[in-house]
Amino acid sequence: MKNDTDMNTKISERIRYVGVNDHEKVIFEGLWPLPFGVSYNSYLVIDEKIALIDTAEAAFSAEFLANVKRETRGRSVDYLIVNHMEPDHSSLISDIRDAYPDIKIVTNAKAVPMIKGYHGITDNILVIREGDTLPLGETSLSFHMIPMVHWPETMVTYLAEEKTLFSGDAFGTFGAVDGGIRDTEAHLCGWLDKSPDCFTEFSDEMTRYYSNIVGKYGQTVQAALKKLAGVEIERICSTHGPVWEKHVADVVARYDRLSRYEAERGVCIAYSTMYGNTAKAAKSLAAELAKRGVKYALHNLCTENLSYAYRDVFKYDTIAIGAPTYNNDIFPPAYTFMYGIGARLVKNRRFFAFGSYTWAGASVRLLDEMAKKQGFELISDGLSFPQGYSPEKCDMASVAELMSR
Ligand code: FEO
Repeated sequence: MKNDTDMNTKISERIRYVGVNDHEKVIFEGLWPLPFGVSYNSYLVIDEKIALIDTAEAAFSAEFLANVKRETRGRSVDYLIVNHMEPDHSSLISDIRDAYPDIKIVTNAKAVPMIKGYHGITDNILVIREGDTLPLGETSLSFHMIPMVHWPETMVTYLAEEKTLFSGDAFGTFGAVDGGIRDTEAHLCGWLDKSPDCFTEFSDEMTRYYSNIVGKYGQTVQAALKKLAGVEIERICSTHGPVWEKHVADVVARYDRLSRYEAERGVCIAYSTMYGNTAKAAKSLAAELAKRGVKYALHNLCTENLSYAYRDVFKYDTIAIGAPTYNNDIFPPAYTFMYGIGARLVKNRRFFAFGSYTWAGASVRLLDEMAKKQGFELISDGLSFPQGYSPEKCDMASVAELMSR
């Protein structure tokens, strides 16, 4: 059955997609830009009983309810499974209850006070625990807790008969989906060069999603991956982005690598600048890295949203931060960025600081101190240079040489 946009919503005979694509929101969570939009995924499992898994963002009530109504073909919805209470997936709990007054909410104890707090709902809730099962007819759902991936109440729901994991935010990605929801037919909305390999299109947005939304919780993601290692998974239905079928192993490997803070050889150059001198030093470093064939990304922290630089901190094994000295301190955009790296508990990185000053240098020394607290390996003591940039003051060739090793 097709929806208004003719997208194929049939995941399998029993599983239907009832989520929505958001092309209107510009900034997600008030922090992160959405150049390719985002999807809020929700699914129906249709058996003798019907279970709805998660809902969607508040602004999409009418579209979401129409999707559910269309796919249920006049039948009622028996259960609402709440895997995660963040409002992009839980805002429509009240609307679903209004549409299906007999629906039973199925969730864990940690979500119960959140449901009360957000919706004032305290009745008709079935509280389940780790490993519990919910029979639907020929099939049944089971539940596994994955706390702090990335909220305390987060859990996943497993449909054993289809080896399908409804994973909540885990394995999700920024980027609205066009063409279809399954990864064999899905494309990243706005991506010009459509690829037969959907994972390639979503790759950077998945890393940006992980690093900014989940990044702090590497340890709990690792615990979740270990718990799920014994579960046979042939399909992952997350709450953002494509349904993974062809690329299950790829997305699990990506999450494993990111949550271990493993990175490829390369440099994230993130600079801030007041009058262009630290910017020139950053560009000189980029040019020297390019000459040596070292991968790098160059980010201006004064003009870009920080989420892109955080993405590349997770992608590359070396961080180079440029900051002029300001008020005998680190120039604020670079301080904010470095603070965010600490907040994400990033580890196992090489580090290099650089920046200009006029009468007394402080930023490089202070950035080095923050990096040492983070356990980073300093490539050198950094490069603090007075007044204007010149190649003589900034020997980035030597720095790039060290970074290439
Ligand atoms: Fe997509 Fe944690 O909500």
